[in-house]
Amino acid sequence: MKKTENQMLVIFGASGDLTARKLVPALFNLFIAKQLPENFVVLGASRSDMMDNDFRKKVVLESKYLKKRLEDLKEEYIAKFADRFFYEDLGGAYDTDYGRLRKRVEDLNNKYHTDGNIMYYLSTPPTLYETIAKNLANAGLNTQNNGWKRLIVEKPFGYSLDTARTLNSGLQQHFTEPQIYRIDHYLGKETVQNLLVTRFANSIFEPLWNRNYIHHIEITNAESVGVEKRGGYYDKSGALRDMFQNHLLQIVSLVVMEPPIGDQPEEIRNEKVKALKSLRIMQDDKTIHDHTIRGQYVASEINGEKVKGYREEEGVDPNSTTETYAAIKFFVDNWRWKDVPFYVRTAKRMPTKVTEVVIHFKTPHHQIFKDSGLSSKDNKLIIRIQPDEGILMKFGVKVPGQGFKVERANLDFYYSSLAQTHVMDAYERLLLDAMQGDATLYARADEVEAAWEFVDPILNYWEKGEDVRMYGYAAGVWGPENADELIEGIGYWRNPGSNLADDDGFCVIC
Ligand code: BG6
Repeated sequence: MKKTENQMLVIFGASGDLTARKLVPALFNLFIAKQLPENFVVLGASRSDMMDNDFRKKVVLESKYLKKRLEDLKEEYIAKFADRFFYEDLGGAYDTDYGRLRKRVEDLNNKYHTDGNIMYYLSTPPTLYETIAKNLANAGLNTQNNGWKRLIVEKPFGYSLDTARTLNSGLQQHFTEPQIYRIDHYLGKETVQNLLVTRFANSIFEPLWNRNYIHHIEITNAESVGVEKRGGYYDKSGALRDMFQNHLLQIVSLVVMEPPIGDQPEEIRNEKVKALKSLRIMQDDKTIHDHTIRGQYVASEINGEKVKGYREEEGVDPNSTTETYAAIKFFVDNWRWKDVPFYVRTAKRMPTKVTEVVIHFKTPHHQIFKDSGLSSKDNKLIIRIQPDEGILMKFGVKVPGQGFKVERANLDFYYSSLAQTHVMDAYERLLLDAMQGDATLYARADEVEAAWEFVDPILNYWEKGEDVRMYGYAAGVWGPENADELIEGIGYWRNPGSNLADDDGFCVIC
């Protein structure tokens, strides 16, 4: 186990939902697993008028996100965790003199011996990132002559290529790039990291991982929920900015990348950037028109319950043209992937919540068993990111009896079979990594910009292009009626269920 140095975590926007919902439960897991450093405190900072005790109650003692976990624990044990939390009211604004904050940080550092190491976590609206970084620098809270200083920023990281660039250079005026950790919680998921291991710790997949053997790649990210209470935010964002530019392109980069020369953060990140830069940017309207589909869910009934359409959701413009469904076909311009189509879709209000990568292999180039019915059933490798996390390989086996009839069989691995292993939650893993200075699973500036470079023309076309269509789909179905038209030749998406091996005619080979 790597050593985690003594440190202080300063959370900006600490009174917001993310702190209580994700960050504190992740810290609690680390506390239980004895992975927090010996000297460790959390200082919440935001505009709410609270005292230390109020903050402790809000995010630990009375938090609905920890309630179940705390039930059977002794009070003294819970207090050992809660007593590490402190709060500093920034007054009315984040754009203020951080002199008082500095004083508080110094006092806590002296009292709890956190060795001058500070991690700042910006859990505020992105418009405040630069302001906070600037004010920290003005108060001398960014200097590393007495302990390291790191800055974690949440998504969305920019709204477009231009705004992402401005944000990057703005932050880099006050913190150096190695100090900046851009969080993407998908990179904290075990199964996303396992893409690297599947590819580069085995000798059986990588030789096939190219245009010679792969017919196409399909990535689905479906959510059954709608926009819930985030209509205001979502309506200015949409599926492409909310999910595709970050989470899904991160997954794409791991599928596309070349083998890194080692597992050091920069080696892996260099290859990911190279992968993202090799995505063919769609420039002309016709290509974007033909290779993208955007949709919006409309009111319907799911399991007998009425469900609102997107435009009826709270905080959403009744004439909104923001997409809740996005499907993109694209190519990767490099030696490995030439002419292999990638199909990626993400959407809200789908029949189930699922994220998976499907590698569709080519059918054998010389077909011996002509009447086997195999030609319509390609070999597939399904990497299930969530739920029912695992990997499944589909291949042909002989049906017992005369002749050579072939049926599909599955070889599978489920993470749940590793019963003894504690699978870390994404935030838990990512926080611990940043606490240890490991940036492998954080996005670098050039990575984020390369992703925006690909997404920008699509967003521009969707906003201003001619012949742009917004297709409706009933909440609870697999997207617009024409969604399958994107998939040339094959004709349809794999619409998975919540279980990994859930299609007809499967069997498990032990
Ligand atoms: C967030 C998006 O980044 O990811 C949300 O803003 C989305 O809209 C969420 O619901 C999905 O995350 P997960 O881990 O539940 O797939």
